[in-house]
Amino acid sequence: MPSRIEIKTAALNPEATGTLVIYASEGAEPIGAAAAVWQSTGLDFKTLAAAAGFKGKQGSAFEVLAPHGVTADRLLVLGSGKAGEGTSLSAWADRGGSLAGKLMGVRAGNAAVILDEEAATPDRVAELAAGLKLRHYRFDAYKAKKEDNGDAALSVTLHVADRPAVDAAIADRDAATSGTILARDLVHQPPNVLGTLEFAAEAEKLTGLGVDVEQLDEAAMRKLGMNALLGVAQGSARPPRLVIMRWNGGKAGEAPLAFIGKGVVFDSGGISIKPGLGMEDMKGDMGGAAAVTGLLHALAARKARVNAIGVIGLVENMPSGTAMRPGDILTAMSGTTIEIVNTDAEGRLVLADALWYTQDRFKPRFMVNLATLTGAIGVALGNDHAGLFSNNEELAAQLLAAGLATGEKLWRMPLGAAYDKLIESRFADIKNSGGRPAGSITAAQFLKRFVNDVPWAHLDIAAVALASPTSETNQSWASGFGVALLDRLVRDNFEGK
Ligand code: BES
Ligand code: MN
Ligand code: ZN
Repeated sequence: MPSRIEIKTAALNPEATGTLVIYASEGAEPIGAAAAVWQSTGLDFKTLAAAAGFKGKQGSAFEVLAPHGVTADRLLVLGSGKAGEGTSLSAWADRGGSLAGKLMGVRAGNAAVILDEEAATPDRVAELAAGLKLRHYRFDAYKAKKEDNGDAALSVTLHVADRPAVDAAIADRDAATSGTILARDLVHQPPNVLGTLEFAAEAEKLTGLGVDVEQLDEAAMRKLGMNALLGVAQGSARPPRLVIMRWNGGKAGEAPLAFIGKGVVFDSGGISIKPGLGMEDMKGDMGGAAAVTGLLHALAARKARVNAIGVIGLVENMPSGTAMRPGDILTAMSGTTIEIVNTDAEGRLVLADALWYTQDRFKPRFMVNLATLTGAIGVALGNDHAGLFSNNEELAAQLLAAGLATGEKLWRMPLGAAYDKLIESRFADIKNSGGRPAGSITAAQFLKRFVNDVPWAHLDIAAVALASPTSETNQSWASGFGVALLDRLVRDNFEGK
């Protein structure tokens, strides 16, 4: 859904109509161009701030209507927190989100924002612009009556000192923002509309950005021996697909970075059917695949200088006369045999074949998979961090750093032989569930069996990709978690290297 917000830049010029926004930090008066704006009102800043109870805290605000000496019909003063604080990129995105919230709150149609403070570097202003867009996003495609801010377009002009540099930074950052919004849209789509083939068709659209997209159908996957993925798909009327997206922006022949996503378009649990309460959320069980698709969009849109692969396993997990049963034993592409003890532990089956296939065919530098894999990760970490599992210290450290920079935070979880023991099976090499204890860890141990010692990280995003609490940069049900994070990972560590 194109969010109806437009962001432009202009040279510092406070001759603005609509809403004029200036910042003031804690305990201080506005500075620079913002100070000049305030002065033209002839009002005493301290007096008004005190009357409004405004202390400059991040997120606080007060407004002056129809101020004398200013062309705008509303002057909005926003707190920017302690001077020098909020210099992290994610703090600037939050600032943009907070600004959008305030502008929507006062139903501003257009706004001019004075951003000439020294801390407002092009990269940070680009984060603020990203925060504005991400906060403004709503998924209302199926509402006859749109929410107010869905109908009314918002136009924001950022008044900055170095316009060309800011324009370039915004355009570059916007690629990932569009990727996040694409991921959110995919996760929000109802499961009757977005099945496996419809998702694959969305991925095909990336060809317009120069991404090579290839699809494996059921017959192709059967030939490769992907019986774990196919076992999940066999209960559904919808055919499975493995979609491979390739962005070749790096040196020819250089090993690619690989991103793999769980794409269960609806997870009923299968024969081990889920309880009814909240089952509608399982339309979002393709959040990992959505993030991978959004990431490939981002890398291609900004022409990242890197070779990257996105592989998504698209299936639907349904109960039927053809569905797999508890007790079934499947042979994965790797040759590993898997005893199914719970058909609701299906994501790991999809990823088992997708991971093995990816390392086998592409010999990547690393594999990062994203999956709404376990409810247990939310029990362990709540909604504030995704779970990170990795067999590689360097990759884990790079991911943790990208998480802090973007606010898509990760928390490292353990792996180990004692956990691996919990998925031993009486009848096959492994079973697909270790039961309740350490549920997210045993799921990760299962995946680890299929990575063949390639540097690998698994992000369990079940508690952060959907139905998570709203934040400064997201007020909708799906967050698009992972796109900004992995775009940052690539940008900071792998481009032109
Ligand atoms: N898709 C679910 C996990 C999930 C739960 C995602 C809540 C998003 C929100 C996954 O396929 C699942 O059913 N996992 C089971 C594993 C169990 C059967 C071992 C779970 O978490 O209960
Ligand atoms: Mn499940
Ligand atoms: Zn699932």
